[in-house]
Amino acid sequence: MEENRNLQDYEFTSEQYAQLDEIIDKFGNSQKNLIPMLEKIQQILGFIPVSVQERIAQKTGIPENDIYGVVSFYSYFTMKPRARHRIQLCLGTACYVKGGKEIAETIEKMLNIKQGENTPDGRFMYEEARCFGTCGLAPVMAIDGKVYGKVKVEDLEEILSQYK
Ligand code: FES
Repeated sequence: MEENRNLQDYEFTSEQYAQLDEIIDKFGNSQKNLIPMLEKIQQILGFIPVSVQERIAQKTGIPENDIYGVVSFYSYFTMKPRARHRIQLCLGTACYVKGGKEIAETIEKMLNIKQGENTPDGRFMYEEARCFGTCGLAPVMAIDGKVYGKVKVEDLEEILSQYK
């Protein structure tokens, strides 16, 4: 029961939960199937939290540490839910001196999160970045890879409103 409660903490649907069990059963307990199994699980759940890793370990007998090692080693895998939109704000020197710091503070205030965090509704994740190589456009910000240059604090609301 314990592991079921952990899974439900992340609000997986019972359908996702059944799919998870199905995938684990299908790939079996061979270590060599671990990476393809984890890929499939991430496609279904979106991420692989520790509670899911525990369940895989229980059902397959593969040590939890090995599973954790793979999930944390490959950047493709994530243990946290990914937000729908990723904001990257450059805080390289040029961007920092041209107002990047103020923009960072405003984004954190508007979204009520700190850098590296997701908004609770899963809409945005916000992270600070190093020089994008477009310093002439400082301060620079990117959302889902789309670059915004010469960003002003007063532009932020309109820019963010385009991402639902
Ligand atoms: S410092 Fe921001 S783009 Fe170079």
